Amino acid sequence: MTESLTIRRPDDWHLHFRDGAIMRGVVPYTARQFARAIVMPNLSPPVTTAAMGSAYRERILAAVPEGADFTPLMTCYLTDDTDADDLAQGFADGVFTAAKLYPAGATTNSASGVTDIAYIGQVLERMAEIGMPLCVHGEVVDPEIDIFDREAVFIERILAPLVERLPQLKVIFEHITTEDAVAFVESAGPQVGATITPQHLHINRNAMLVGGIRPHAYCLPVAKRERHRLALRKAAVSGSPKYFLGTDSAPHPRGDKESACGCAGIFNAPFALESYLAVFDEEGALDRFEGFASEHGPRFYGLPLNGDTITLERGKARVPDAIEAGGTEIVPFHAGETLGWTLRG
Ligand code: NCD
Ligand code: ZN
Repeated sequence: MTESLTIRRPDDWHLHFRDGAIMRGVVPYTARQFARAIVMPNLSPPVTTAAMGSAYRERILAAVPEGADFTPLMTCYLTDDTDADDLAQGFADGVFTAAKLYPAGATTNSASGVTDIAYIGQVLERMAEIGMPLCVHGEVVDPEIDIFDREAVFIERILAPLVERLPQLKVIFEHITTEDAVAFVESAGPQVGATITPQHLHINRNAMLVGGIRPHAYCLPVAKRERHRLALRKAAVSGSPKYFLGTDSAPHPRGDKESACGCAGIFNAPFALESYLAVFDEEGALDRFEGFASEHGPRFYGLPLNGDTITLERGKARVPDAIEAGGTEIVPFHAGETLGWTLRG
């Protein structure tokens, strides 16, 4: 049995840090494991200009613990009014690594998102021209569409036509949750990739709804049926360069989750690698973990691979019931469980 695994240091290609005290509390968990992270811009107000992106990056860097080598990769929140010149300048200056499409109302802090993709046609054309990747929250918001179908309908109505219209645009279909998404990514060209979260590899919708409603298993896109989870596991461990690690770690105060209208988002940053590795171990695919965690993402983005390594060892990682971040209590993914791998150091 493999007792330890040394791999190139991984990156997290989809992450929420928030801002202020919570951000300062959660950054160290990510910086301990990852060299870089694609930081989501859904603050309140959202990060919509290069100046805001640059200032937010500075606040994150100030929260990185002494001695840790961590680079936040910033994203610009697209709105109906995004200025293509400011966006392109932000990309050219290295402030922004990608732009993020939130359909308005799809998820946490997405009220200022795009109301109709037609409004950002020119922005997307410009991004395709300059090679700027587009991160996509792939769910329609049409109230007539059942929440469990919103990803599949998004593919049909928005994503497939977009990829057909702009075949050179690099698109990251983020936090995919369905076999439909896997099938779409497979059928698309190499410019379409996808991130997969640890929670969507571990849980199906029963985890959220059986035996009582469990707000800490609720995130968006919502976990689906078991057959979808199995399709995601197969994709993640397949070795295909189209799939890479993106935790979607999304901290919310305990009280905002345990509420009559609980927020969407799972805080998985503290044990993200241990959580993913459990899946690769169960699937007999430890040899595929480095590709998923550390190689496919940077290759897709056209960024250098990290030079240093990390080591994970077989052993007990006990996940606490709650974690304190900047004076706020947050319940992590796997709270109270014991995972079978630990990160050395
Ligand atoms: C995210 C958040 O809380 O910001 N929530 C979530 O359920 N994943 C937003 C998002 O990525 O959808
Ligand atoms: Zn997210």
